[in-house]
Amino acid sequence: MKIKYTAPLRGDLSIPGDKSISHRSVMFGALAEGTTEVTNFLTGADCLSTIACFRRMGIDISLKMDAAETVSGSANSHAANRQTGGHVRIHGKGLHGLSAPAEQLDAGNSGTTVRLLSGILAGQTFDSCLTGDASIQKRPMKRIMTPLEAMGADIVSMRGNGCAPLAIHGKQLHGAHYDSPVASAQVKSCILLAGLYADGITSVSEPALSRNHSELMLRYFGADVRTDSDDLSADGAIPWKKSPTVYIAPEPTLTARSIHVPGDISSAAYFIAAALLVPGSELLLRNVGINPTRDGMLRVCRAMGADLTLLNKDYSGPEPCADLLVRSSALKAVEIGGDLIPTLIDELPILAVLAAFADGTTVIRDAAELRVKESDRIAVMTENLSRIGCAVEATPDGMIITGTGGRPLHGAVIDPHKDHRVAMSFAVAALASEGETEIQDADCVTISYPGFFKDLNEVCR
Ligand code: S3P
Repeated sequence: MKIKYTAPLRGDLSIPGDKSISHRSVMFGALAEGTTEVTNFLTGADCLSTIACFRRMGIDISLKMDAAETVSGSANSHAANRQTGGHVRIHGKGLHGLSAPAEQLDAGNSGTTVRLLSGILAGQTFDSCLTGDASIQKRPMKRIMTPLEAMGADIVSMRGNGCAPLAIHGKQLHGAHYDSPVASAQVKSCILLAGLYADGITSVSEPALSRNHSELMLRYFGADVRTDSDDLSADGAIPWKKSPTVYIAPEPTLTARSIHVPGDISSAAYFIAAALLVPGSELLLRNVGINPTRDGMLRVCRAMGADLTLLNKDYSGPEPCADLLVRSSALKAVEIGGDLIPTLIDELPILAVLAAFADGTTVIRDAAELRVKESDRIAVMTENLSRIGCAVEATPDGMIITGTGGRPLHGAVIDPHKDHRVAMSFAVAALASEGETEIQDADCVTISYPGFFKDLNEVCR
């Protein structure tokens, strides 16, 4: 894919559904009694992997695209665009309704699928094997095996390297407390899901609060999930400042619900960044999830001097959302670290791109988790930022990036190492650079945002 600057970003865009919430809607819908209807479901490859795994365990799931919306009355007629999402119907069979899969369960590129599903599979009455693509087979699974084993699970890394493929021998699990050394929603959610099948209360704490979609959605389906601060409400003041212990009671009856998935703030992030960087841009991003455990990018952008306004805030559902109005802005360097990191972990690649054009030196620290994502995002971002002429240094847990103060960098050939978030980050960098940028294996964006390049084209015309 070749990209170069064409025009400022104008008009409005509906951002595709949130990946984390889409995964969970299928998993929890499958374990609920009755039919769960999901709209604006993300039809990215990762979420399709989750659907495929549950179909293999006997769950009837239908997927069609939501009807296309006709756009009228847009202030900017050429750029109005309505991304349509999936409409998914999950015919749940209750907590004990899954059947033994005849074949391996394939999570593809999706860490969320492997880690959350492991928690469910550990407490079944059947055996299963869970694997994924080359990237998944390198990602650490000890972080879920250790707490699951403490709950009595029998889970084996088949190559003995702490990674997938995982062989899971279903067993009766025991309630336990786990003090997680990493702030990871995948670890936390895995334990909570295993807790559904335990013989007592299960609880988990983490060093900083990671995304709480599992807690919110499990409660929405009827599970007894509590925290010791009891601040699960997504509009709480600044809940990310303290990390509560989360408790779950076993054997709830989960009841099917309707879910409208908000737009993914992690996907909106590329358009926020592009609109900030390209002079003369003004872009309205509709219906974006603003759960405070996910909105660190917005806080950092504001600290960098971004002209960013939240409109039509809606706190009526389990997940809050808003429209985001973004205008191009002169950016200044910031320091990003501490408890903020889990709230923007997936946005650090695009924040690194913003830092590359900001005034001054940005320091990203406390983000060693970036090394075990779909790629080693510290190494891969550093490699590719250097290619476009940015002064960047990798550290063990982050990056030090000296920005240009708004001056363009130059186009280059980018190797995202098949990492969707790196590919999209450099598509944005290309718009603020001179010359042409070529992104290799650009179709990896289908993992989380199949219509990314189409949407980018729409708003850059
Ligand atoms: C996710 C949690 C995060 C995030 C990932 C999705 C989730 O991973 O990076 O893209 O859906 O729970 P970690 O929990 O490993 O930080």
